[in-house]
Amino acid sequence: MIFDSHAHYNDSAYDTDRAQVLGSLPAAGIGLVMDVGANKASTVAAADLAQQYDFVYASAGFHPSDTEELERGEADIPWLKEAAERPKVLAIGEIGLDYYWPEPDRALQKKWFAAQLELAKELDMPIIVHSRDAAQDTFDMLKEAGGSSLSAVIHCFSYEKEMAARFLDLGYCLGIGGVVTYKNARKLKEVAEYIPLDRLLLETDCPYLTPTPFRGKRNSSLHLPLVLEEIGRLRNCSPREVEEATFENAKRFYRL
Ligand code: NI
Repeated sequence: MIFDSHAHYNDSAYDTDRAQVLGSLPAAGIGLVMDVGANKASTVAAADLAQQYDFVYASAGFHPSDTEELERGEADIPWLKEAAERPKVLAIGEIGLDYYWPEPDRALQKKWFAAQLELAKELDMPIIVHSRDAAQDTFDMLKEAGGSSLSAVIHCFSYEKEMAARFLDLGYCLGIGGVVTYKNARKLKEVAEYIPLDRLLLETDCPYLTPTPFRGKRNSSLHLPLVLEEIGRLRNCSPREVEEATFENAKRFYRL
């Protein structure tokens, strides 16, 4: 069975057919789905979806690009704590740093990443980290917040092998999805080959990052066999072996 460890079925891309898409997953071998919150509305929507579907779990958090909601006071850490204590909410995330976009400014992203890391520690919950063009600061902040005493996944891992080694040394997992099927994804293919199998989490980040040959279309967990096939090819093992390992890894990571 497949565990999609990072999906956004709460996204408006599924507004017209969400029940149909989610309803089709179990028969296609998708056993479990982590639906990830990224701001106030999606955190509520993810926990609501987890209430409706047995096989869906949720996370609660503010993506670095959405930290302005916290800055403006539309939500705060006590609000997030309550959201994280709803049934079937298993992790804090996605939280982190995104320097690809100039806004919000870095100091503000860091402030709210740190505050959400503190909440994860207080609640003793695993952490889903979003990190883009911010490897060193992400590493430093995770180290500062507790390093190997934290349980974290660097989702949609996009750095080179040397950086992977540093996160792996802290005991963290790396999330890999559709990008690994792209022809020009040389760095990620290297990481997928290099990472110990028990630290690999399979993810879609859907509706984004659809694997080849469907790149550009809306993604869903139904495309994950294409990702398993590519990881199996890179590692010289069967896709089934990757599927079974990543299912167990995600169950262990989310403490199911
Ligand atoms: Ni995401």
